[in-house]
Amino acid sequence: MALFNKNLQIDFLRQIESAKHKNDLADLNLKIFGRKGAIAKLTKKIKELPLNDRPEIGRFINETKKILEQALQNKKTELDNTDKLENRDFDPTLPAEKLQKGHLHITTYAVREIERIFKEIGFARRRYPEIETDWYAFESLNMPKNHPARDEWETFFIVGDANKKAKVDSQRSNQSRLVLTPHTSSGLAREMEKGILPIRMMNISKCYRRQIDICHIPMFHQFEGFVIDKKINFGHLKWTLEYFAQNFFGIKRKVRLRPSHFQFTEPSFEVDISCGLCSGLGCKYCKAGWSELGGAGMVHPNVLRAGQVDSKKYTGFAFGWGVERVYMMRQGLSVPDLRMLYENDLRFLEQF
Ligand code: DAH
Repeated sequence: MALFNKNLQIDFLRQIESAKHKNDLADLNLKIFGRKGAIAKLTKKIKELPLNDRPEIGRFINETKKILEQALQNKKTELDNTDKLENRDFDPTLPAEKLQKGHLHITTYAVREIERIFKEIGFARRRYPEIETDWYAFESLNMPKNHPARDEWETFFIVGDANKKAKVDSQRSNQSRLVLTPHTSSGLAREMEKGILPIRMMNISKCYRRQIDICHIPMFHQFEGFVIDKKINFGHLKWTLEYFAQNFFGIKRKVRLRPSHFQFTEPSFEVDISCGLCSGLGCKYCKAGWSELGGAGMVHPNVLRAGQVDSKKYTGFAFGWGVERVYMMRQGLSVPDLRMLYENDLRFLEQF
């Protein structure tokens, strides 16, 4: 019986553990499992044992086999791995591979920069709801129900309880429908109804319109400047637009205002900027020297009233432009399809 004890297992396990090379493992394998190996010897000895002891010894031998097989296999994997490490074509003096670094989305860069430029002249950043009532998006902006001017905004009307929302926000938007806000101008009445004057705010937010083609994306960003104070006049608006244009596009750029129409401003303008490539002379990238930035104007008295601001004492201006649009214009980028901005294809986004 002396042969059949745990010392045998332990002795072999020690030898396996101290093996330095795969050849040592091959030798051990032979010693244990070979025809004349330890296991074979033990198996032969079973015959000499009393019948009663045989099953227990049989189990012991099987267990020993399993344990040693596993130990050999583990050691082999260990030696294989060290082999790989030692033999690999490795030059520790080479510079390390650079980790790939991510960066913010270009729209985020643009939003941050616009925010910074306006902050310097005292505009506070605001964000108002993207799910909005019809009242803030249109009625408060001098576009009563069924007014044809609303058509331009290609609005997503959504299913939901506008009255519930109106209760939280303002009773005046009762009986409204819910929309995904189609422009940042919906923040004007919201800012005014806080009742804190004067106002100098910059509302930058996502907007939604039912339009999708190479020049339009159903979700985009706008930034809306809004100033209300006593004696605000058109000169303040023009100066602010020039200040932004020169800080964002470059000191040499000029701004031009063309008469236009928006329900919420009177007078209203389209704002153009002189082309950065031809300095206003006219080239194939611009319209006779100028490119269009977006709308602006002096706030309509009806809008002031909707915001409960006394239109006899206060005046103001507003402008609302597309973030993606101004950013593309500044970089001189002509993205063949605006939708690419939000398709999350890294090959495209990594360029910026
Ligand atoms: N909300 C307008 C739009 O989305 C842009 C706009 C035009 C905003 C004139 C203004 C403005 O504040 O004065 O097309």
